[in-house]
Amino acid sequence: MEHIAIKENNNVSTQSNFLPLLILTILTILMSFLRKYKPFNSWIVSRVNQMISPETMTNDQYYIITNTFKMVHGPTNGSLSHNRQLFPLNGLYNALLNLNEYGVRSKRQNSIILQRALSLNSEFKSQLKDIEYFDKLNDVDLAVVENNITVKKIVESTLTRLVDDNQSVLREGDNYDSAIFEQVKMVCEPLGYTIQAGNTVQLKRKKEPTMNSLLSKSSNQARVVESLQHLVRDYSKEYEIELNPLLDYVTSQMDDLYTNFQDDKVLILVPGPGVGRIPFELAKKYPKCQVESIELSNLMYLLNEFALTHQEDITIRPFAQYFSSQLDSGDQLREFNVPLSCIRKLPNLNIRHGDFRNISINEKYDRIVIVTVYFIDTAENILEYIDTMEKLTKFAHTKQINWINIGPLKYGTKPNVQLTFNELTKLLAIRNWKMKHVVINNDGNKLNGYLTDYKSLYQGYYGTVAFHTEYID
Ligand SMILES: C[S@@+](CC[C@H](N)C(=O)[O-])C[C@H]1O[C@@H](n2cnc3c(N)ncnc32)[C@H](O)[C@@H]1O
Repeated sequence: MEHIAIKENNNVSTQSNFLPLLILTILTILMSFLRKYKPFNSWIVSRVNQMISPETMTNDQYYIITNTFKMVHGPTNGSLSHNRQLFPLNGLYNALLNLNEYGVRSKRQNSIILQRALSLNSEFKSQLKDIEYFDKLNDVDLAVVENNITVKKIVESTLTRLVDDNQSVLREGDNYDSAIFEQVKMVCEPLGYTIQAGNTVQLKRKKEPTMNSLLSKSSNQARVVESLQHLVRDYSKEYEIELNPLLDYVTSQMDDLYTNFQDDKVLILVPGPGVGRIPFELAKKYPKCQVESIELSNLMYLLNEFALTHQEDITIRPFAQYFSSQLDSGDQLREFNVPLSCIRKLPNLNIRHGDFRNISINEKYDRIVIVTVYFIDTAENILEYIDTMEKLTKFAHTKQINWINIGPLKYGTKPNVQLTFNELTKLLAIRNWKMKHVVINNDGNKLNGYLTDYKSLYQGYYGTVAFHTEYID
């Protein structure tokens, strides 16, 4: 019996050895089958990517209050996202990630251009060397390094504000908020910075460089380059050639209104301000009016904040990576001074982040003046923009809206309607808008450049429609 018992035990132990082996074999067969199954493969890759991607590192329940960068927890029902005085922390983080990758990604792009030239035969390469083509590529690399100094300033200054404006909840003490501390830290770390708990919390640069392997999946460097160009367009002396005609038209119409405002409480609203020179100039020129802008793009909004708070000049080489249509590499690499030292926050200027179509105005105003510059053709549905303007009379208990516009009608992303100017004027008439002034600028000498490279062999110019119309509820 004993002998038999021993035999049975052996059976049990063989069985228990066999079971994991069986499971392993089944799993191996299953995996080898699934590996050939494409949807499964992409699911695994996307899960792993999601786990390690820097884009997913922050929590989407946190917001910053625009203008102050003070952080707040969002409610779980998401209703805060409709309050357009808030900017999602994720939006800020992703914009900073894009900026932070400018240096690495631009250098990679340049090295592709170099590799293409190096793949030519030795005779061609030697001729390219003789005409200093490779020196130019090297200079482009250096220009990217210089642009990157400016880009890093934008990142660092934004993070510094995030830390400084939240000091009361970040430092040890009664108001300390560990969740906000962790969120700020999570934003800083992948960007190469850190914060440490203490009596005063300061932003510190991390010693080890941020790993290139943590580049985000969906970086849009074209947008980064374009937003740097917007800083040059809005704030450099050279680009007054583009900006002044726009400002001149708006202020020529505003001046007449302004003299009649007397003690009226007036709101000037600028949807889609880009990096914000136009609202800044309007706030400066019309101190009795409250000026508010509302910008949809995370990057543009952040660069507008940067322009208003940096208080030092910066330099940008906006065309460094444009190899086509150049007469000379000196043109391609030229540097523009962007004198932000004379730009500052103004007490009557409030910049918001969000979609103009969702704007809400909580104060009462006697008059609202809407100023749109290169904006109306961004609409998927221009009627929605007009609806939004008319609804402002309800929000702000205002009887009268003035709308001053200057810009082209080059409809952008997937428009549902693309009106001619004549159709637009007919539409405004049937909706009770009274046209007060119209100028059509489609003559050669009245065309307006927009981020145009004036030394390039390819230069884009726009014809614009300028009008001032009035809506009485
Ligand atoms: C062509 S740019 C013009 C920028 C600025 N007005 C200028 O003249 O430099 C249009 C701007 O409108 C913004 N935008 C587009 N749709 C918007 C919307 N629904 N609400 C707010 N901003 C919007 C874009 O992000 C962009 O910054």
